[in-house]
Amino acid sequence: KLTIRDVDVAGKTVLVRVDFNVPMKDNGTVITDDNRIVAALPTINYLLEHNPKAVVLFSHLGKIKTEEDKAKNNMAVVAPRLAELLGRDVKFVNATRGPELEDAIKNAENGQVILVQNTRYEKGETKNDPELGKYWASLGDVFVEDAFGSVHRAHASTVGIPTNLHPAVAGFLLEKEIAYIGKAVSDPERPLVAILGGSKVSSKIGVIENLLKVADKVIIGGGMMFTFWKAKGLEVGNSLVEEDKVELAKEYLEKGADKLVLPVDAVVNNAFAAEGDIKTVEGNVPEGYMGLDIGPKSIELIKENLAGAKTVIWNGPMGVFEMEPFAKGTLAVCEMLANMPDANTIIGGGDSAAAVKQLGFADKVSHISTGGGASLEYMEGKVLPGIAAVDDK
Ligand code: 3PG
Repeated sequence: KLTIRDVDVAGKTVLVRVDFNVPMKDNGTVITDDNRIVAALPTINYLLEHNPKAVVLFSHLGKIKTEEDKAKNNMAVVAPRLAELLGRDVKFVNATRGPELEDAIKNAENGQVILVQNTRYEKGETKNDPELGKYWASLGDVFVEDAFGSVHRAHASTVGIPTNLHPAVAGFLLEKEIAYIGKAVSDPERPLVAILGGSKVSSKIGVIENLLKVADKVIIGGGMMFTFWKAKGLEVGNSLVEEDKVELAKEYLEKGADKLVLPVDAVVNNAFAAEGDIKTVEGNVPEGYMGLDIGPKSIELIKENLAGAKTVIWNGPMGVFEMEPFAKGTLAVCEMLANMPDANTIIGGGDSAAAVKQLGFADKVSHISTGGGASLEYMEGKVLPGIAAVDDK
């Protein structure tokens, strides 16, 4: 794929699709985690160092169905934070088309950074309306795809623009995500060990199937382990189980007999709470109890299976880490990965990324993905439309 290193942007208007879909509170007035803005800085700064006329940033924010959604997902909230991080002026344009946007671009000079209003204010965005992609493409000379978190969406800003504007190149964040996640699932240094947690088998089916093909070991943890326990004929008590996925779990247990690693013990409680009758059980969850974390023997088992791994992909927490008594499994996996300096340790986005950051291990792993759905679909081995839209070398 072409990257921003391959194009001359001097004097040009560069359109960049970033993922500024940041978590917010207080009705969209306060950003609670600016990681995605920070992750876009290397690309924006590189462009600015190469004397463009303007750098025009496009992103969606939230899901827009009603006028109320618009008010709660106004991109204006991002502009001051971005300006602070860049250390320069950011011009926010409260429009997604029309004279205000066109004039801002026309009158820009010396690498003016322009942030466009939420792309999803346009109904045609999520439908990839061809007219919209063409219109946005007409505003610039070069397109940079850097919104890894959004490349699983075939929308006007992620696919429509690069369909109509070339060169269309990858930014540094997209390049980095491809280098870590893409390489891990297509051409990994082996052994490749995957650790999959989270509550539901149903949201990980594609990932489990692909990793059973490409990984050397697939370690299961988190709430979804109990669907597997049930498939093995073990008692699960009140644990979270997806009844309609038990058969599928049985299939995986047969197909992946040599690769699948299941927890052998669990920390259980008689309530979904941080207090109660908390204890560790092996193999069966007693009636009236639910499993909320993996147990100490399972932690040891994971350690054994990680020994010597050259690539580790982790997606999904091992337990309800938000509650202190059930954070041990997730914490232990964080520690194991942090102590594998010779391995490529990759954290798929979402909850496991949040756990790694919250537990203080963010700088001890090789890569934390900025994608949620995008990193999951990438781990499924899918071709992501926003990556496919980037020009090949
Ligand atoms: C994400 O947060 O995963 C991306 O920004 C995509 O958002 P979406 O699920 O609303 O398309």
